[in-house]
Amino acid sequence: MSAQAAPPLDGRIALVTGASSGIGRAVARTLADAGAAVALSARRAERLVELRDEIEGGGGTAIVAPGDATSREAARSVVEHTRSELGPVDILVANAGIMTLTPIEENDVEAWTRMIDVNVKGVLHFVSAVLPEMIERERGHLLTIGSLAGRRPFPGGAVYSATKFAVRALGWGMHLELGHRYGIRVTDVQPGFATTELLDSQPEAKAAWEDSWSGRRTLQPEDVARAVEFAVTAPDHVSVSEVLVRPVDQPS
Ligand SMILES: NC(=O)c1ccc[n+]([C@@H]2O[C@H](COP(=O)([O-])OP(=O)(O)OC[C@H]3O[C@@H](n4cnc5c(N)ncnc54)[C@H](OP(=O)(O)O)[C@@H]3O)[C@@H](O)[C@H]2O)c1
Repeated sequence: MSAQAAPPLDGRIALVTGASSGIGRAVARTLADAGAAVALSARRAERLVELRDEIEGGGGTAIVAPGDATSREAARSVVEHTRSELGPVDILVANAGIMTLTPIEENDVEAWTRMIDVNVKGVLHFVSAVLPEMIERERGHLLTIGSLAGRRPFPGGAVYSATKFAVRALGWGMHLELGHRYGIRVTDVQPGFATTELLDSQPEAKAAWEDSWSGRRTLQPEDVARAVEFAVTAPDHVSVSEVLVRPVDQPS
C-alpha cells in the first residue's frame, strides 16, 4: 500500500479576512481542504463559529478570530490570537471589503470614506500586522481580493474602483520591495461579478444589477477560491502576481 501524499498546504497557517460570507468563506474552506490551518476573521463572530464547526467537522483545522478590519488594533490582536493558537501566519488573504454604489455627483463622502477605510486601510492594517514576522522568517504570501474594477472603473463605482486600483498598486509595489529581498509572494486576485452578499445593504442597486444580468451566468465564490488556491499552491519561486477571473458571460 502506498503512503498517501500530504495535502499541498499541510503545515501552513492561513488568515482569511471577510470569512463570514461570500468569497472569503469559500476561500477559507478551500484552503482548509488543501490542508492549511485557517484563522477566520470578520465582524460577525457567529458566522465564523458556524464555518469553523463545518471545517472541523470535515477533518480540517480552523479557529475563530473576529475583528473589525478598520481598526489597526483589532487587526493586530487577530494576528496575535492566530499566532498563539496556530502559529505565525504563512498566508494572508485580505479579502474583507464593501461596495457602496454611489454616483460621484451625490457627494456621499461618508460612503467614500467607509470604502477607503475597509478596502484600503483594512488591507494595510492586516499587512502591517503580519509583515514583520514574514520578513523575519523570509517567507509568506500576501493575497488581496481586488477586482475587475481595479482595472476598469464603472459608472456609480468610481470610489470603489479607486480602492481596488489602490490595492492592485499596493500588491505590485509590495512585490518589488519584498519578493527578491525576503521571498515573500504577493497576489491580487481580481474577480468580475460574483454572486455574494456584497450588495445586500443596497437592495435597489442589487435588484437593478441582477436585472441587468438576467439570463447570464455569474461567478460563484468557489470559482474565485480556486484562483486563490492556484496562487498559493504554486512552487515557492513562483509569484502569481495577478489573476483576473471573470464570468464567461461578462461583457466588460
Ligand atoms: N462579489 C463580487 O462581484 C466581487 C467582485 C470583485 C471583487 N469583490 C471583492 O471580494 C471581497 C469579498 O466580497 P464578497 O463579494 O464576498 O462580499 P460579501 O459576501 O459581502 O463579503 C464581504 C466580507 O467582508 C467582511 N467585512 C465587511 N466589512 C468589514 C469590516 N469592517 N471588518 C471586517 N470584515 C468586514 C464581511 O464580514 P462581516 O460583515 O461579518 O464583518 C464579509 O465577510 C471584497 O473585497 C469585494 O470587494 C467582490
